[in-house]
Amino acid sequence: MNIQAQYGPLRDQVDAAIKSVVDSGRFILGPEGKALEAEVGERLDRPAAGVANGTDALVIALRALDVAEGDEVITTPYTFYATAEAIARVGAVPVFADVDPVTYCLDPAEVEKKITSATKALLPVHIFGHPAPMGELMDLAGAHGLKVIEDAAQAFGAATPDGEIATFGDIATFSFFPTKNFPGFGDGGMVVCATEELAERVKRLRFHGSEDKVVFTEVGYNSRLDDLQAAIIRVFLPHLDDWNVKRAEAASWYADEGLAEHMVVPAVGEGCSHIYHLYMARSTKRDAIRDALREQGVSSAVYYGIPMHLQPVFAGLGYSEGDLPIAEECASTGLALPMHPNLTREDVGTVVSAIGAAVS
Ligand SMILES: Cc1ncc(COP(=O)(O)O)c(C=O)c1O
Repeated sequence: MNIQAQYGPLRDQVDAAIKSVVDSGRFILGPEGKALEAEVGERLDRPAAGVANGTDALVIALRALDVAEGDEVITTPYTFYATAEAIARVGAVPVFADVDPVTYCLDPAEVEKKITSATKALLPVHIFGHPAPMGELMDLAGAHGLKVIEDAAQAFGAATPDGEIATFGDIATFSFFPTKNFPGFGDGGMVVCATEELAERVKRLRFHGSEDKVVFTEVGYNSRLDDLQAAIIRVFLPHLDDWNVKRAEAASWYADEGLAEHMVVPAVGEGCSHIYHLYMARSTKRDAIRDALREQGVSSAVYYGIPMHLQPVFAGLGYSEGDLPIAEECASTGLALPMHPNLTREDVGTVVSAIGAAVS
């Protein structure tokens, strides 16, 4: 990541946006938050509600869909912990299904095997910026009467052959954490809903279960997106698609420079648009590659080195090593290589040469 290079050209606009919020004195649930909700809502043609972060977005989404104690929610083991944590936080049980080795997203055939009479919802993640197979997952949900929440924290702008993500499920959630492909300058999140009714419930839940701070109808949260963040994110929104295109271009350079000769490179499902929030390649020599890159001053990172079903916090769920072999293989071989909109072909060439030398 190179956050400074990405923001540099927009610094004046960001500074002006911050000044305007400070001058307005409207910091929480003010005009900037509402404007961002309207702009995201217009893009996705669904009502949107800002919240404090992507984790709260998931918790509030689950609550808004009445997922509670005793319910099972099927999700992926190959994700950031917040996805599974949110399910546990509402008292439900995360049920992990294995992923597809090509896209790293949930495999619908594995999901189907996990459906029981207690299953209440599916929680696919558009992991690393690749869209989950929403068509097949929505068919499964329809056949079994399940709710669907899309964890879109890593994938604003990604698309399946049937349309942009966050437009399929009952609810989709975003994170504006500063390293995300659609970032803010702090914590922030957004919940996008299929109906106005759900969006109203989300707005109540984010505000202590109240519409007016006088009457409290349910136990909620204090989880709002503040106006300073919203104003900054609004500066970035017009640049998002361009940033996503540049990420995809950088991914194509990894292919052109011959990375596939040294590592398993991330593939894209047919007709899908991947926005490469992270560029995850795989190798059984991952640790040697990491060391070689570090020696050259190149950052790389292991994401989700322990898949969720093997995390100590979920030991009580009874999973063992070998239960979800593809997720386990991805966890032990995946390495995120440099990826950001300001990467140059020369940068990519340097990374690939270093990797080639490390594995030869
Ligand atoms: C897949 C996924 N879900 C949820 C979250 C949680 O978002 P946040 O960090 O904004 O709470 C993240 C971000 O780290 C994420 O990557």
